[in-house]
Amino acid sequence: MDLLIPDKVHDESRQGEALMLEQTVGKYNGRKLYIESYGCAMNFSDSEIVASILLDRGFETTKDYNNADVVFINTCSIRENAEQRVRNRLKEFTVAKVKNPGMIVGVLGCMAERLKSKFLEEEKLVDVVVGPDAYRDLPNLIDQVDDGQRAVNVLLSREETYADINPVRLNSNGINAFVSIMRGCDNMCSFCVVPFTRGRERSRDPQSIIKECVALHNQGYREVTLLGQNVDSYKWKAETTDAESVSISDIKGTNFAQLLEMVALISPELRVRFSTSHPKDITDEVLYTMAKYDNICKYIHLPVQSGNSRVLDIMNRTYDREWYMDRVNAIRRIIPGCAISTDVIAGFCTETEEEHQETLSMMDFVQYDYAYMFMYSERPGTLAAKRYADDIPDTVKSRRLKEIVIKQQQHSHLRLQDQVGKIQKVLIEGFSKKSNLDYCGRSDHNAMVVFPVQESYKPGQYVNVLVDRCTTATLIGRVI
Ligand code: SAH
Ligand code: SF4
Ligand code: F3S
Repeated sequence: MDLLIPDKVHDESRQGEALMLEQTVGKYNGRKLYIESYGCAMNFSDSEIVASILLDRGFETTKDYNNADVVFINTCSIRENAEQRVRNRLKEFTVAKVKNPGMIVGVLGCMAERLKSKFLEEEKLVDVVVGPDAYRDLPNLIDQVDDGQRAVNVLLSREETYADINPVRLNSNGINAFVSIMRGCDNMCSFCVVPFTRGRERSRDPQSIIKECVALHNQGYREVTLLGQNVDSYKWKAETTDAESVSISDIKGTNFAQLLEMVALISPELRVRFSTSHPKDITDEVLYTMAKYDNICKYIHLPVQSGNSRVLDIMNRTYDREWYMDRVNAIRRIIPGCAISTDVIAGFCTETEEEHQETLSMMDFVQYDYAYMFMYSERPGTLAAKRYADDIPDTVKSRRLKEIVIKQQQHSHLRLQDQVGKIQKVLIEGFSKKSNLDYCGRSDHNAMVVFPVQESYKPGQYVNVLVDRCTTATLIGRVI
């Protein structure tokens, strides 16, 4: 890898620095990194930052952990079963480590942050524990392990956005990419561990975001998804002391609607998506910006969590049923036909049967295109764990979840059927999972569309597909 050799190498005065750099690169040269990610898109995006930091030092990536020198697992803490999955996977890595004792096993991400050095006590074969804001320290932490120690860095930061790091795209199809626009979360929803694992909310410099998106577009990428736990609270307040370079956006700062517009203007050929929108913060300005640009996908992920105002209140979501419905109405008014998806939690503390029914009736009201549905899982340290008893029996939680899932299946199917007979603009992502005779790609509404391959079209191109029929999760059609 020559990624780290800067242009300064040829600057005489910097020769010492260049030499040091080469020595550092040399030290890691050829060592193989395997990295596996769990949890939300932010974690997958972070793994690309981690890979970038290590590849810059001479590491190479491998897809087989059995022949890796360093095995990282980027973890999620959102629900208990997410953590369990990681523990199970670690057992498999442990087997590989017994065969190859030189292997370094590292735990990154939210579970690392939540458990800190406790992880080292609980998992004897883990060598390094690194929280989401400490990835720049990885080379140093690996050095410590090389010196025979076990290493931990779980410091959270108020500033770190990794803005200057150009992520290495892992497992990429060269067409879609995630771009992180902010980190952390200040919302303190009572069920949620994220504010503790990811720290305070901070926005990334818009210029660095645009630069990354332009570079992606120039490399042939055709879709970027802007990521944050609550993109609507994106806020960049530029600090500038040089009066001559002050522009309007420096004075006013940049909000999410403005950032979205800046990204949309890069090229009409570059599609823009974003996630996640918070119902309390999504503004009409964002909706009008979406409506204005054809290349901003007409799809909003707007987690409701519950359809009942009392439950929303104790969840500390800071909106109620009426507010949420008003936001949905605004979406329908400003962006007719916009797809909406959601997250729902079944069986939150003290939820009554009637309150659960209100979640179902909210689903009827919105008719979501898609939903991620979960049973409430108490997380240590959260407000809900401190304040409320996790008092809904598992049998009741799972029955309520089942009712939610069945309703959503009906709505998802209705939404897909709605598209039959219509033409969808699809960005071709590659061959379909089932056959090399078919291409697949997503519609503006984020629905998966499958259609027969035609010689004249390649992945990365847009095609108009007439939808002939649908399965439970996919639209099937042909290019016209
Ligand atoms: N920032 C996003 C959500 C991130 S977590 C938002 O505010 O909507 C993704 C989803 O996991 C949440 O929307 C919620 O539905 C679910 N979730 C979070 N904590 C949970 C818990 N303790 N039990 C069950 N589901 C949970
Ligand atoms: Fe968690 Fe709420 Fe922040 Fe989403 S907005 S990450 S649910 S605290
Ligand atoms: Fe999980 Fe952390 Fe994301 S807890 S959902 S990986 S922010």
